[in-house]
Amino acid sequence: PLGLGHAVWCARDLVGDEPFAVLLPDMLHEGETPCLADMIKERAQHGGQVIAAYEVPNHETHRYGILDLHGETKGTPRIHAMIEKPQKGKAPSNFAISGRYILSPEIFDVLEHQPRGAGGEIQLTDGIAGLLGQESVLAYAYRGKRYDCGSKQGFLQATVELALEHPEVGAEFRAYLSQLSF
Ligand code: G1P
Repeated sequence: PLGLGHAVWCARDLVGDEPFAVLLPDMLHEGETPCLADMIKERAQHGGQVIAAYEVPNHETHRYGILDLHGETKGTPRIHAMIEKPQKGKAPSNFAISGRYILSPEIFDVLEHQPRGAGGEIQLTDGIAGLLGQESVLAYAYRGKRYDCGSKQGFLQATVELALEHPEVGAEFRAYLSQLSF
């Protein structure tokens, strides 16, 4: 209830002393390979913590955690800074955090003392930002599609697009949509 950083901190005894993944289920990824599986591969190759990212238009940056990649966007660039829900016009880039993280347990010590940030909440973004000087944190830009089901539009788009492709309900749903007049 105190924010995403607090929710993750509450899992510290379950996680113990090993790397772990955080999945925010309102962010849906769809493509040939699962986003988290790709991130696990990147971590095996490069080490460090890995955060999924995707590019958003300028007018949406204030809704997300935004990454400063020092202009590097190829491969899995290092994250130099990150800011949760920057004010309009103050985002360091267009790369938004996309609801998937591979983190190391050191984050729990940081979160324990993390003051409230954007929206009065204890933010995971601020906690990870506190580790950037000591640990390598990499951004992974997923190549598939993503839907932000935390917004009404994203939820509707995911529902319609994935229903159309679905082997069980797709054909009937397509027929239903096509007889609607709009
Ligand atoms: C959370 C994170 C934010 C991230 C977003 C989408 O925000 O705090 O950094 O960009 O999820 O994954 P929320 O949607 O809970 O406001």
